[in-house]
Amino acid sequence: MHSSEPGRFITLEGGEGAGKSTNMDYLARRLQAGGLSVTVTREPGGTPLAEQIRALLLEPGNKSMHADTELLLMFAARAQHLRERVLPALARGDWVLCDRFTDATYAYQGGGRQLDAQRIEQLERWVQGAFQPHRTLLFDLPVELGLKRAGQRGSLDRFEQEKTAFFQRVRSVYLQRAKAFPQRFRVIDAAQSLAAVQAQLDPLIEEMLAR
Ligand SMILES: Nc1ncnc2c1ncn2[C@@H]1O[C@H](COP(=O)(O)OP(=O)(O)O)[C@@H](O)[C@H]1O
Ligand SMILES: [Mg+2]
Repeated sequence: MHSSEPGRFITLEGGEGAGKSTNMDYLARRLQAGGLSVTVTREPGGTPLAEQIRALLLEPGNKSMHADTELLLMFAARAQHLRERVLPALARGDWVLCDRFTDATYAYQGGGRQLDAQRIEQLERWVQGAFQPHRTLLFDLPVELGLKRAGQRGSLDRFEQEKTAFFQRVRSVYLQRAKAFPQRFRVIDAAQSLAAVQAQLDPLIEEMLAR
């Protein structure tokens, strides 16, 4: 369906195994049932070039990657993804569902890697200007439970191999940001069963469709 209104940019955030990918499908189907045209994408990645950058970032063998390199690659991938995919989709009226975005950079490179948040802000302003998600769904759960779920997926990528303390800092930055930007964030208790998580998503979907 084509709309003359620009679409909305909805991001899904949360630690490993929180259920972002699992619930992406559910959200897309619900929005499509509401008559919307939906683009589903992810970061890092979402275009062929940005997916190549993703592969560099996740490759467990890239143990020598400096935290600054990691941060710059995240924003390099984001610059490409925004310009090639996200902004054009929004301009043609699509709602864009994105598995991770800049909040993940604050959480993983700022919290996890302990890089200065001002560095991240500078890159955010450069790559995005004032552009922000219209809504961010934060899937929050205890780190151990998330890692247990993620571990069932098979081999671990470069981030998944980090220690529990790293993921505690990731979770804590996500929750701080949800508190700092209450109009944009909605926090979902992702420790519950899948059915219970989706029951939490339903009113949030209604809320998004209503305005
Ligand atoms: N609410 C839930 N309860 C139990 N298992 C879940 C739940 N949500 C997702 N899972 C399972 O946990 C694993 C990780 O989920 P996934 O969606 O890949 O997480 P993420 O994309 O946030 O890392 C998958 O095997 C998925 O089937
Ligand atoms: Mg996922």
